[in-house]
Amino acid sequence: MTTLPEPDVSNQTVVETYHRLAALYDWFVTPLQASTRQRALELLAIERGEPVVEVGCGPGHALVALAERVGPDGDIVGLDAAASMVSRARRRAIREGANTRIETCLGDVRSLPFRGDVADVAFVEDTLELFAEDEMTTVLGELERFLRPDGRLCVVTMERAGAEDDLFVRAYDWLFERVPGYERFGCRPIYAARTLTEAGFEIERRERLRRARVWPVEILIARPP
Ligand SMILES: C[S@@+](CC[C@H](N)C(=O)[O-])C[C@H]1O[C@@H](n2cnc3c(N)ncnc32)[C@H](O)[C@@H]1O
Repeated sequence: MTTLPEPDVSNQTVVETYHRLAALYDWFVTPLQASTRQRALELLAIERGEPVVEVGCGPGHALVALAERVGPDGDIVGLDAAASMVSRARRRAIREGANTRIETCLGDVRSLPFRGDVADVAFVEDTLELFAEDEMTTVLGELERFLRPDGRLCVVTMERAGAEDDLFVRAYDWLFERVPGYERFGCRPIYAARTLTEAGFEIERRERLRRARVWPVEILIARPP
């Protein structure tokens, strides 16, 4: 089996990095995500009123887009482990007039502070790839617990399978392994489809896109085990 570069920093260090750099992330990274996020939301085909959770919600752009789709009776929860990301997401929800539908909370996706079996949709964008392989399994176990049996999971991520020779993927590996400090961001291309399947999720849709014409991203829609 092909191996994955593993972060040699703890998730706590990764969270501290996002906590410190939340404003920079918000200004420079989120504009690049708009097209893939829009496509992911189309593929998810969220219905009005469906309860949705986003884990690793960052500064909250997807929360607002999700709130538009679920409508006035929707119920969205955004969770992140970085306090400054959670406060950005909360402020964004207020600014967009969506704060009655969006609840933000500080928490760890490896141990969700919610009872199970309540959400129709779980949304995970650019976050699964921050974890070591065994932790990804823990995250997926938590999402399975939280989702209703007929719910669906959407993962937007950098997929490595079939892209091992992609220049962007190779550049990422180089950054991750060679540039001191880069690993503090935690993210690198992963075998997302394989990880979901091994965790028992059934993949219904996969679509590969490129952000800004270079950054290969995969959208996976899956059903819980
Ligand atoms: C690359 S950012 C993605 C943010 C957002 N989903 C987006 O696409 O803009 C990853 C986010 O995951 C959060 N995160 C990292 N580890 C986490 C954990 N254990 N539990 C919850 N959130 C976590 C970080 O704080 C950060 O906000």
